[in-house]
Amino acid sequence: MRAVVLVGGFGTRLRPLTTTIPKPLLPVVDRSIVEHLVGHLAQHGVTEVVLALGFAPDAFIEAFADGTCAGIAMTYAVEPEPLDTAGAIRFAADAAGIDDTFIVANGDVLSDVDLTALVAYHRSTGAEGTLHLRSVADPSAFGVVGCDDDGRITQFVEKPAPGTEPSNWINAGCYVLEPSVLARIEPGRKVSIERVTFPAIVADGRLYGLLDDCYWLDTGRPEQYREANLDLVDGKRPTLGVRPGVSALADVDATAIVDRSVVRGGAIVGPHACLTESIVLDGARIEPRVILDRSIIGPGSRIGAGAILRNVVVGVDVDIESGSELTDTKVPES
Ligand code: GTP
Repeated sequence: MRAVVLVGGFGTRLRPLTTTIPKPLLPVVDRSIVEHLVGHLAQHGVTEVVLALGFAPDAFIEAFADGTCAGIAMTYAVEPEPLDTAGAIRFAADAAGIDDTFIVANGDVLSDVDLTALVAYHRSTGAEGTLHLRSVADPSAFGVVGCDDDGRITQFVEKPAPGTEPSNWINAGCYVLEPSVLARIEPGRKVSIERVTFPAIVADGRLYGLLDDCYWLDTGRPEQYREANLDLVDGKRPTLGVRPGVSALADVDATAIVDRSVVRGGAIVGPHACLTESIVLDGARIEPRVILDRSIIGPGSRIGAGAILRNVVVGVDVDIESGSELTDTKVPES
C-alpha cells in the first residue's frame, strides 16, 4: 500500500527552528520526525511513500537522495504553490499515479496507531475514508468528530469554538482513503481536506473513524517538539523502547550535567554546563557553566559561557553572549 505524507507546511509555530529547516526534518533523538513516521508506516505494510512537498523541498530531496526514506521507496511531488491539505493530496496522488486505497499522514505527527487495524476496519465498512480518532482533553484546536455507534462520522468540525465541540474525539492526522476521494478535490487549487472534503464525505455518509488512544503527539509547537524528544529518552513510546539522549558523536565534558536531555552529533557541551529537559541540536556549542532549562538550541548556535536560558528556543547559527539571562523567549523572535 502507498502513503502520501504531507510535509509541505511552513511550520510557523516552531520558528525560529523552522525558518530554514522544515519541521518534519527536525530530529527527534536519533532520526527526523518524518523518518520516525515513515518507519511506523513501513511496519504496517506501507511499501512506498509519496512526500507532498511545498516549503523548502530541496532539504527533503537532499535528505533522501537515494530515493528511500526509513528503508522504503520514496517519491515526491513539489507543489508550485502551497495547495493546503486536500490540494496537496490530490497533487501528490496524481503525480504518483495512485489508483488504489491509500494512506495519508500529516508529516508532523508521531504515533503508534494500529494502521493494520485501521485499514481492516476501513475495508469492513466500505467507507470512502476512515480517520484515526483520538480522544484529547481539549479538542478545540483540532478537527472534532461526532460519530454514530457504527463508527460512521456524522459531524466533522475543524477547530470548533471552545464549548461547541461535538465530542472530545479528534482527527489524529492519519487516514485511509479510497481513490474516489481524489475526484472530490479540484486539481491545482488550494483546498482544505478538513474544511471542505471531509464535511462533503460526511454529508454522503461515507466517512468513518476508529478510536485508538495509542501514543500520539502532534509536534507542532516547541513544548511538543521537546516532549517528543523526552518521551524517547524516557522510554514512553512502547514500540521504540528507551533511546540514549546523548549522541556518540557529541562531545560532552565529564563535569557537565545532562538530565533528561538530548545532545545531537557534533554538539559540544563544556565543563560544568547543566542541561535539564533541553534539546541541543547538531553542531551547537554550549560553553562552560551554561545553564539550559527546558530549552531548545538550534544547529550551529553558540551559547556563551555562564549564560542561563530557561524555556528558550534558539534558532539556527545564533550567538548568545556569555553571561546572558533569558527566560520564556525565542531568539531571534519570530
Ligand atoms: P504551522 O504553520 O505551525 O501551523 O505548521 P504547518 O505548516 O506544518 O501546518 P499544519 O500543522 O496545520 O499542517 C499539518 C500538516 O500538513 C503538516 O505536516 C504540514 O507540513 C502539512 N501541510 C500544511 N499545508 C500544506 C500545503 O499547502 N502543502 C503540503 N504539501 N503540506 C501542507
